[in-house]
Amino acid sequence: MSVFDLTGRRALVTGGAQGLGEGMAKALAAAGASVVVADIQDSGADVAAALPSDGGRKHGFVHLDVTREDDWERAISETVQIAGGLDVLVNNAGIEITSLVTDVEVDAVRRMLDINILGTTLGLKHGLRAMRPGGAAGNGGCIVNVASVAATIAFPGIAVYSATKSSVDRLTRVAAMESGKLGYGVRVNCVYPGLVPTAMGAGLANDMATIGLFGSAEEAVAAVVELTPSGRLGTVEDIADTVVFLASDAARFVNGVGLPVDGGMGM
Ligand SMILES: NC(=O)c1ccc[n+]([C@@H]2O[C@H](COP(=O)([O-])OP(=O)(O)OC[C@H]3O[C@@H](n4cnc5c(N)ncnc54)[C@H](O)[C@@H]3O)[C@@H](O)[C@H]2O)c1
Repeated sequence: MSVFDLTGRRALVTGGAQGLGEGMAKALAAAGASVVVADIQDSGADVAAALPSDGGRKHGFVHLDVTREDDWERAISETVQIAGGLDVLVNNAGIEITSLVTDVEVDAVRRMLDINILGTTLGLKHGLRAMRPGGAAGNGGCIVNVASVAATIAFPGIAVYSATKSSVDRLTRVAAMESGKLGYGVRVNCVYPGLVPTAMGAGLANDMATIGLFGSAEEAVAAVVELTPSGRLGTVEDIADTVVFLASDAARFVNGVGLPVDGGMGM
C-alpha cells in the first residue's frame, strides 16, 4: 500500500462546499478516505454525495458555521457518527475582504478575525479534543490548517487578511507543540496556498483593480504570476494534493510546519 493511501481514514473538511475545500474533499476521497464536508452553504451536501463510496465508506455533509462553538460540537459528533471516527481535520473555511489599510471597515475586520482566526481556533480546540486519547474519536490523527502565501509576504490590499493568516500559522505551531507535549498523537500543520482563481481568488484580483492598485484584474493576476518562479497561478488540485500529502503517512514526521504551495511566490 502506498504511503499516500488514506484508506480507512475519516476526514472533516470545513468550507468544503466550493473552491479549495471542495477540491480537498475530492482529493482526500480519491486517496481512499471517508470525507465529511462542512460548510455554511448546504450545497456542500452535493459535493459529499458525488464522492466515490467504494469499499463501503461513508461520506456526508454537516452544516457548520466555524465561528459557532455549538456548531463545532455538533459537527464533530455527526462526523464520528457518519464516518465512524475522525482522523483528519482540514480547517479550510476562510474569507478575504480587500481594502487599503487607510480604508478598513470595522465590520469587515471583525468578520475576517471571526472566521479566519476564531474559526480555525475552534476547529483546533474541538478537533484536538475529539482525536486525543479518550476523545470521541480518540485515535490521534492530523490537522491541516489553511493559511496563505499572504502570511509570509507583503502584498498590498490584504493587510488584515494577511494578519489573520499569520495568526493561523502561529496557531498551527503552538497547537502542534501542545499536542506533542500532552501526548495527543495529533500532528498539526498548515499550508500557504498561492493565488488560485476560485471565487475568492478571482474576487481578490477584481477587488485589487477596484481599489486602484492595478489597472485591471488581469494586471493584478499578471503581477502575481511575475512574482512566481513557476510562472502561473495555482490550481485547486495543487493545493488539495498537498493536503493529501500532509494527511498521509508520507508526512508522518512532518509536524508544526507551514508549507508553501505557491510556485515559489513567497520565497
Ligand atoms: N483562493 C486563493 O487564492 C487562496 C489563496 C490562499 C489561501 N486561501 C485560503 O483557502 C481557503 C479556501 O479559499 P477558497 O479560495 O476556496 O474560497 P471560497 O470563497 O471559494 O470558499 C470558501 C468556503 O468557505 C465557506 N465558509 C465561509 N465562511 C464560513 C463559515 N463561517 N463557516 C463555514 N464555512 C464557511 C464558504 O461557504 C465557501 O464554501 C480560505 O481559508 C482562503 O483564505 C485561498
